Amino acid sequence: MALDRKTTPNDLNAFWMPFTANRQFKKEPRMFVGAKDMHYTTSDGRQVLDGTAGLWCCNAGHCRPKITEAIARQAAEMDYAPAFQMGHPAAFELANRIIDMAPKGIEHVFYTNSGSESVETALKLAIAYHRARGEGARTRLIGRERGYHGVNFGGISVGGIVNNRKVFGTLLAGVDHLPHTHLPAQNSYSKGQPEHGATLADELERIVALHCAETIAAVIVEPVAGSTGVLLPPKGYLEKLRAITKKHGILLIFDEVITGFGRLGSAFAAQHFDVLPDMMTTAKGLTNGVIPMGAVLTTANIHDCFMQGPENMIELFHGYTYSGNPIASAAGIATLETYREEALFERAADIAPYWEAALHSLKGLPHVIDIRNMGLIGAVELEGIPGAPTKRAFEAFLRAYDKGILIRTTGDIIAMSPPLIISKGEIDTLIGTLADVLKTLP
Ligand SMILES: Cc1ncc(COP(=O)(O)O)c(C=O)c1O
Repeated sequence: MALDRKTTPNDLNAFWMPFTANRQFKKEPRMFVGAKDMHYTTSDGRQVLDGTAGLWCCNAGHCRPKITEAIARQAAEMDYAPAFQMGHPAAFELANRIIDMAPKGIEHVFYTNSGSESVETALKLAIAYHRARGEGARTRLIGRERGYHGVNFGGISVGGIVNNRKVFGTLLAGVDHLPHTHLPAQNSYSKGQPEHGATLADELERIVALHCAETIAAVIVEPVAGSTGVLLPPKGYLEKLRAITKKHGILLIFDEVITGFGRLGSAFAAQHFDVLPDMMTTAKGLTNGVIPMGAVLTTANIHDCFMQGPENMIELFHGYTYSGNPIASAAGIATLETYREEALFERAADIAPYWEAALHSLKGLPHVIDIRNMGLIGAVELEGIPGAPTKRAFEAFLRAYDKGILIRTTGDIIAMSPPLIISKGEIDTLIGTLADVLKTLP
């Protein structure tokens, strides 16, 4: 008997849901059963406007024909090819296309299956790169407070979101953290990059002085911190980080899992800020979120340094069964074509001022204490209920869903990142509905 996926299953117990209040959800399930362009369809037949591009990933909107057709075609033609010691054309073609849109100086692509795996890969590459160059003492990794780099051990070690770290033991040794860049007293209600805080990058000099540059492999930061609640880099901050890392021979990794593929109105944040890192971690928008795939992008310098020793030897003992999976590669190619044909990155840049104005119109509504934005990212920070952190924002999320919009919350911050195809009318609906929610929030 065919499975009818349009109905709500009557036993929700077996599936242990990720990053979810499982008990609350299973009492009052919220099920999506369909998606098209800017909307989800719920199991009770309602349309919900997607204010978050799924999870910051469906940048071209949902069920885009070119992507779904490419997946079906590839699945019928060749479902899987071994990732080790064998190749297939789509993975090479996609890599070339990614490099075509990447900043000049970035020349190689190492495939993973997720943002978390991209981060682990980049951290391992950083350590192995220094070792290959005869600087094997460079093993320390520097992250940042409030950073999010996925959920694997390397990622939570360099990450700085306390709840993601505190119950998982001692994590990686030899990790230190820069301070976060959130300065509400000086920067609240900034539009785009905040004025104050570039000097926070100088903290890297303090960390270098403490540990000695010769022990530090890499610094990893999100150019725009997303999951912690949208923290923008202060003006001049990323440039300073680049200068200090370069001065000390430390690699700089931009975690572009959220900012990659158009979110800021350019292909990557590295181009938006005109700062070239040594590696970039990506995922999400690479396949429009449709099929799991990630990629680490590196300079030639990093790649070439591994290309030594006998030619029949594996140069890097790292990779995944699904690295460059044919169906994911086909989805990636079709996704990048969709972005190009519809000029979606330019579209995001064009509509960003409208988005900014709409978001900042929420200033003055009950409980709102800050609003931040850049490209098609926006955050509205709420004053938490004393003694009940996250409760107010979670209530806003539930009420928003009931009123037909999907938003995301982290702590008491509402974060939004709509598909890049959003229209002005849909921005009005999203922000107008959010305003109604905020006005009635306890
Ligand atoms: C900056 C950043 N890095 C890594 C990740 C982890 O990606 P994934 O959930 O695909 O493992 C995320 C996910 O939101 C992210 O925002």
